[in-house]
Amino acid sequence: MKIAFFSTKSYDRESFEKNNKQDHQLDFYEAQLNDQTVNLTQGYKAICVFVNDQVDAGIIEKLHQNGVQIIALRCAGFNNVNLQAAAAVGIKVVRVPAYSPMAVAEHAVALIMTLNRKTHKAYNRVREGNFAADRLTGFNLFGKTVGVIGTGKIGEAFCQIMLGFGCKVVAFDIYENKKLIKQGIEYLPFEEVLQQSEIVSLHCPLNDHTHHIMNKTTFSKMKKGAMLINTSRGGLVDTKAVIKALKKGRLGYLGIDVYEEEEHIFFQDLSEKIITDDQIMRLMAFPNVLVTAHQGFLTNEALENIASVTIENITSFENGAELENEISVS
Ligand code: NAI
Repeated sequence: MKIAFFSTKSYDRESFEKNNKQDHQLDFYEAQLNDQTVNLTQGYKAICVFVNDQVDAGIIEKLHQNGVQIIALRCAGFNNVNLQAAAAVGIKVVRVPAYSPMAVAEHAVALIMTLNRKTHKAYNRVREGNFAADRLTGFNLFGKTVGVIGTGKIGEAFCQIMLGFGCKVVAFDIYENKKLIKQGIEYLPFEEVLQQSEIVSLHCPLNDHTHHIMNKTTFSKMKKGAMLINTSRGGLVDTKAVIKALKKGRLGYLGIDVYEEEEHIFFQDLSEKIITDDQIMRLMAFPNVLVTAHQGFLTNEALENIASVTIENITSFENGAELENEISVS
């Protein structure tokens, strides 16, 4: 089958070409899928998109007119796809539900460790011959309370790592994970998790119920000086409110791999450009904020799984087989 890939990077091309055992025709476009690029899909039955490709109702209508029959997401989250619009025109949507939960969980831990022990600052200091240790003081993770919002595949992996550090882990999810309860985590109402935790890590999907789950009110429930980690989706955090919470010192640290307006910024080299998004520039100016540009998924193991499962999803569609990873409208 002919497949048009959008928002592709060199690592996507490498992993997909390596895993293309079925000899599909893979055409890689660097451009994001949006109004300007949707016409590139003419002649393709399958397209493959990533987290910041725009797959709203208008784009889906054009995909349908161009003959696209399947949208294969090479990621787990699907908040950027209008599933109702796709179902209405009979376009199938498939994803990679669990390519490597450990990759994202471990990245969340990397953000915690860096913010806490300030290894990013130490690295720069030492390179300039500054071996002083003042202002690098961190805190022991052992014995601290970590709150986890969303204990699905990534949240579960994250809980297990934090238990290994000797942390007390409390969690909120709309469904309790029995395995985690047996391992010692305690489920509490959302606000209580915020009240008890020195570190809060978000691992729930972005949807109408979770949009801005971290806002002015919920920041006021957190322990003063606590750390917030978001490796899930930018829209979970109200950016204006988080900036205020940081300015007031209510929030002590922020580590984000995702950002509400990331689609205009992330996955691009803007080092020689004027960045017009004042909110991200404000966030990056705080000494206690660490931003990474949506790289939580980026491990060799995850790329391998993403490519092989995506190719399998499209092959199943081509063969008329059952679509195990289809996302149905709820
Ligand atoms: P999952 O579906 O296994 O787990 C999500 C969990 O959130 C479920 O247990 C669900 O019950 C819970 N949940 C749903 N609504 C909730 C609510 N209102 N409050 C609390 N919990 C709620 O998903 P998985 O694989 O663990 O991924 C989680 C999220 O991580 C994805 O939705 C995606 O946005 C993000 N992600 C980020 C990546 C990155 O590179 N930074 C890579 C992969 C995923």
